[in-house]
Amino acid sequence: MADASPISHPFLNGKPKQLFIGGKHVDAHGGTFDCITPGTGEVIAEVACGDAVDIDRAVSAARTAFEGEWSQWSPYDRQVLMLRIADAMDEHFADLGRLESIDMGAPVARTGMFKRWIQQTFRYYAAQAVNIRGEVLENSFPGKFMTYTKRAPLGVVGGIIPWNGPMISQLWSICPTLASGCTLVLKPALEAPLSALRMAEIMAEAGVPAGVINVVPGAGPTAGAALAEHMDVDRIAFTGSTATGRKIIEASARNFKTVAVELGGKSPDIVFADADLDRAAVGAAMACFNNTGQICYAGSRLFVERSIYAEFVEKVAAVGRQLRIGNPLDPGTQLGPLASAAQFERVQRYFDLARSEGLDIRSGGQPAPGLGGGYFVEPTVLAVEDPNSRLVREEIFGPVLCAIPFDSEADVIGHANSTEYGLGGAVWSRDISKAHRVAAALRCGIAWVNCYGVTDPSTGFNGTKHSGYGVKGGPWHINDYLTSKTVWVDLNS
Ligand code: NAI
Ligand code: MG
Repeated sequence: MADASPISHPFLNGKPKQLFIGGKHVDAHGGTFDCITPGTGEVIAEVACGDAVDIDRAVSAARTAFEGEWSQWSPYDRQVLMLRIADAMDEHFADLGRLESIDMGAPVARTGMFKRWIQQTFRYYAAQAVNIRGEVLENSFPGKFMTYTKRAPLGVVGGIIPWNGPMISQLWSICPTLASGCTLVLKPALEAPLSALRMAEIMAEAGVPAGVINVVPGAGPTAGAALAEHMDVDRIAFTGSTATGRKIIEASARNFKTVAVELGGKSPDIVFADADLDRAAVGAAMACFNNTGQICYAGSRLFVERSIYAEFVEKVAAVGRQLRIGNPLDPGTQLGPLASAAQFERVQRYFDLARSEGLDIRSGGQPAPGLGGGYFVEPTVLAVEDPNSRLVREEIFGPVLCAIPFDSEADVIGHANSTEYGLGGAVWSRDISKAHRVAAALRCGIAWVNCYGVTDPSTGFNGTKHSGYGVKGGPWHINDYLTSKTVWVDLNS
């Protein structure tokens, strides 16, 4: 279809996309790279590729902005700015959502839902901007002294985000940065840099001062590492793989940066025989297949009570078979391609592993046929008896669901927790006591009962164990962007 051509997007006007530093579009010292659309594998834009020199320029612009006029903005000024940005995002959303679909492959049916999420997030954090407060503390020091705490913005923040949903994941550093009065250097992944570059333009037009939000796409080992190590960056907010998260934490030691790392997962989804099985089957399928399996909290380990195992696994496989895979720009598409050639190859290696281990492939297990050069794969359900199989333990980051039978509540809790990860987890049951017991027993940062993947900016989102630390969202998040100082005042004279 003609209107589905990725080339027809207004942002993809044939001009190279530059870095956004100090309020200006600038060329990268690091050169350029080819930005690819995963629906066809075609090059859609030439994009500036930041390196360590570019990161240094961006950090310096962010520091200058932090110390400049921005530091005089009142909380109310920042709130008004954020509400103006929310309006601007709303106005430009149709193009922004399509750009994200073109760049990383999620269907417009999915990216379209983020219109409301973007509004909610900017508006929620706008309210936080005017709620920053210190405390007056009583003390018993002889004589009369008053003590109070004073909050101040932390400084320059580095945001390092992955490619599986950059339009949304960047909000977790942009919004607390603006609400607190910090400044930001955002480094999107080479696989999907476009929504971050476009959002920075929209924010600048809405009145964000030069240097407050800077965007430098670049490779992880060069630009990413330079940001994580930088001596003038006060905090890193990272989302990505567990292996890279460890490097971020190590790099932070150089200048004692604070860090939040939201990492990988292999989240358990537990279905008891007494659940509403039709609802649970759709919930369990989409817990893993949504965004073509490229979600950190994907419910990729499905534990099913043995008495309903065969019947339930077939229901889930049937949901997978019915999903419409196709062009991300077609409004009827439910599953787009994987985001990159590397991810496509990675998922196929797991298909090969499933075959070589002789696993029972109930549906999928192949690249999706008939869709040309794009990185499409079939939603896949594997029936796995051994909870220690590599497919059950490793994060695949594709639409590959392992269904494992269990015999008792105690057994399933043991299996569910026997992983290094601890991000999400869910339980489906009509027995309310059992549901609460299991939700409490799961070692994870976010647990769902009779639903999966429900989130909201006003609630917290975090991992445990090797899924990382640092709560995003909720009333506490902004505190990570503020320092606290205790002030003593001698009232005796
Ligand atoms: P990655 O964690 O290496 O990349 C995420 C971000 O970190 C990107 O912006 C990248 O440029 C940056 N980065 C990479 N190396 C860095 C370094 N040394 N210092 C600073 N920044 C660095 O993940 P990648 O390689 O894109 O994907 C590999 C696998 O990781 C996926 O197949 C998936 O299993 C997992 N992953 C998990 C995510 C999640 O949200 N749980 C998100 C992305 C990937
Ligand atoms: Mg791309």
